Amino acid sequence: MPDTKTTTKCPDNVLCGVNLVCDPANMTDLEKKHLPVITAPDSVRKNEFFEVTIEVGKYLEHPNEPSHHIDFIELYADHTYLARVHFTARTTKPTVKIWVSLDHIHGKLRAFAYCNLHGNWGGYKDIQVTEY
Ligand SMILES: [Fe+2]
Repeated sequence: MPDTKTTTKCPDNVLCGVNLVCDPANMTDLEKKHLPVITAPDSVRKNEFFEVTIEVGKYLEHPNEPSHHIDFIELYADHTYLARVHFTARTTKPTVKIWVSLDHIHGKLRAFAYCNLHGNWGGYKDIQVTEY
């Protein structure tokens, strides 16, 4: 469930702030096309690499033309920056696999996907980092 309390934006302006899915059980087509979906373990061991997959368009394919495409995906461990991948329209698909090692986290993996027409979209996944 997105953490809507940590984001401020103008509700009717997709170019303001971070767009979040309002109701995961009843996503709009716009939300389905832009949500960065994170797949990762629920729990990982401290300082051991694990795979994080981020997919945009998992529930409904996003356009992939120069005039309308996903420009980049970013991954954070809560508010700590981890990675950014840029895409070119037509020749790349906005899906990435990133190997990550954490020594701790404050609750969530956070992904952001930037559409050149519809702004920034956030997706979240709870994760724990354990000692052993
Ligand atoms: Fe878009």
